Amino acid sequence: MADLVVTIDGPAAGGKSTVARLLTEKLDAVFLDTGAMYRAVTLAATQAKVSLSDQGRLLEILKATEFGFKPARGAMEVSINGRDVTEQIRDEKVTANARHIASAPKIREELVRMQRDFAARQQAIVTEGRDQGTVAFPDADVKFYLTADLAERAKRRRAELAAKGAEQSLESIKEAIRQRDRSDENRTVGPLKPADDAIVVDTTDLSIEEVVAKLLNCIRER
Ligand code: C5P
Repeated sequence: MADLVVTIDGPAAGGKSTVARLLTEKLDAVFLDTGAMYRAVTLAATQAKVSLSDQGRLLEILKATEFGFKPARGAMEVSINGRDVTEQIRDEKVTANARHIASAPKIREELVRMQRDFAARQQAIVTEGRDQGTVAFPDADVKFYLTADLAERAKRRRAELAAKGAEQSLESIKEAIRQRDRSDENRTVGPLKPADDAIVVDTTDLSIEEVVAKLLNCIRER
């Protein structure tokens, strides 16, 4: 296992990725974006026209596909059978459908195994998702749970979409986030919740820089 494992869990659109990326740079660590793994399996299954509720077939796709999760500077490059899909996995459709993959216990088991393998090859890692402190890395050195008001998360998501030239109403963004959170919180395996020993940080009124500084302080104190 890596010498330093920092986990960041929390609800959708809470700024986890941005914070994890910046933290990774400060700590000279590698960033593991586990959401990208669920997204990649979702995309591969969709491309293979497999029903997203057929766990057996999904598992076959997962085993038959060559997924590449490569640490890049402060990010993670994702490929499917050698083809770069780093941008494609951010599609709105993939985002909405990932929850089906995320609710399949056998897929989660396999992805958690891949996450641990990935961590074992790094010296220091910042890993981000929903179950990193609770299931994947229960012995992590420092665990964070980042949360923010739904309205604030929706605003941040809208700004992110606008930067990519996509306009959506705040209400529809809110509803999509609400649905993803509900599904993440209510599944039986790896549900979204803070680990008992996680440091919970409400980022509603904090800037990204303030959040990163706060997390760095906590890490240094440990
Ligand atoms: O974090 P991101 O929004 O990219 O994750 C995409 C989806 O993957 C989430 O909506 C969630 O359902 C799922 N996920 C998960 N467990 C993780 C990371 C992501 O269930 N550790």
